Amino acid sequence: MATVTATAHPNIALVKYWGKRDHSLNLPAVPSVSLTLDGFQTTTTVTWGAPVERVLFDGVELVEDPRVSRFLDRVAYPRPPCEVVTNNNFPTGAGLASSASGFAALALAASRAAGQELDQVELSILARQGSGSACRSIFGGFVAWDMGGRPDGRDDHARPLKGPDFWDVRMVVSVVEDGPKAVGSTAGMERSRASSPLWPAWLAMSPGMVKQAIGAIHARDLERLGTVMEQSTFAMHATMQTAVPPLLYWQPTTLAVLQQVFALRAQGIGAWATMDAGPQVKVLCEAADAETVASALAPVSLQVFVHSPGVGAHVVA
Ligand code: DP6
Repeated sequence: MATVTATAHPNIALVKYWGKRDHSLNLPAVPSVSLTLDGFQTTTTVTWGAPVERVLFDGVELVEDPRVSRFLDRVAYPRPPCEVVTNNNFPTGAGLASSASGFAALALAASRAAGQELDQVELSILARQGSGSACRSIFGGFVAWDMGGRPDGRDDHARPLKGPDFWDVRMVVSVVEDGPKAVGSTAGMERSRASSPLWPAWLAMSPGMVKQAIGAIHARDLERLGTVMEQSTFAMHATMQTAVPPLLYWQPTTLAVLQQVFALRAQGIGAWATMDAGPQVKVLCEAADAETVASALAPVSLQVFVHSPGVGAHVVA
């Protein structure tokens, strides 16, 4: 019996992953780029070889969700019963990338508890099978997830672009609602693929957006990065909103926050918005502008958090 605790941070996609070419392995239909954040985190303890299999999520025992047990089978099979205790210090399932930090922390804690010493690429491949975006949270800072070509997904993993200290940017997170989302990402992306007439355009434009974002990161060009980030966000939401039936993740307050971001830009403050499969808005800006941005968003938000670039998944005990 071995017990290991690991921590991982969420990442926010700057160019979005939305769509799969293989569902069981979470192989993406498009490449993506992300920024791992500090502050928010998942901490997960795995005991490999427990009297009974048990998953405690934020203090509540999960009885009907087989996702964790299925994931542990990918770490090693056959395997003993395991105990998994996992805690998030931020709202779960509301478009704040909890599945990314969750499966990154679980991949690291479970593989170590099982006696495996996986390198970061192997961990990224493992985490991806729990939730696609989790493969990016293995690494800190700016991260790319290219599409591999192999059917078994062995060449389909994230890679680090630049570490958390490379560029002093901030992601200002405006929480406008804290409940769980109505349609999860997995089902939402499949509905978009199956029914949105914009899907072929989304597939065609994504590689170019990734290329632009990587160039902008290397040049520390926030305007170029923010512009392509917004384009990727609105293109992804266009595929959602033109699905049948439509997927509308926005709330009225989402639009109020977006208007504030556009008003800040009109005043000459470099702030760009992104949204995922939920109503929250995340705003990318230089560190020096973060307080101004946070103050402008506070009146139209439930809560505002300011995050710096964060480190990759790591073992804490
Ligand atoms: C909108 O990684 O949660 O946040 O692979 O089905 O678990 P599954 O989906 P998930 O999707 C994240 C989608 C997104 C965009 C992104 O993070 O790139």
